[in-house]
Amino acid sequence: MRWPRLMLPGAVVVALLAAGGVWWWQQPSEAALVAVAITGGDPARAPALLRHYGCAGCHSIPGVPGADGQVGAPLAGLRARVFIGGVVPNTTDNLIAWLRDPRALSPRTAMPATGITEAEARDVAAFLYSR
Ligand code: HEC
Repeated sequence: MRWPRLMLPGAVVVALLAAGGVWWWQQPSEAALVAVAITGGDPARAPALLRHYGCAGCHSIPGVPGADGQVGAPLAGLRARVFIGGVVPNTTDNLIAWLRDPRALSPRTAMPATGITEAEARDVAAFLYSR
């Protein structure tokens, strides 16, 4: 009977592979690391903010359940966008300025100022740039 002797080493290999898989799966993506570095925000705080400030009602946002608004553009792939709101180059500072007061940059835009704070806008920027 050789098979039972292989059971223990086999189980160890399976456990190691599973642990390695969990470790790998939990590593932040490179995009997420870059997004945190350039914004100084915490993406983990963003989903609640995106709901609280009504962003989710106007935009579809990947990673935020129920965020399926169709008023503004989908916010997927924002880091690849060239302009924010079609008016200013897509930089971290311009994104945060847009999130705080879009009409200061584009007076006729339908997006309102929501009252989001600078620190919260940073968290949202970190989240959006990591998608
Ligand atoms: C009343 C609806 C409405 C709400 C609420 C709203 N937006 Fe917008 N948003 C828009 C519209 C419309 C645009 C397109 C604006 C334009 O191009 O002039 C836009 C544009 C944007 C853009 C620029 C996208 C691009 O591709 O240029 C970002 C980023 C954005 N919104 C994020 C947010 C976030 C984050 C919130 C919550 C703090 C939010 N929006 C709240 C309607 C809204």
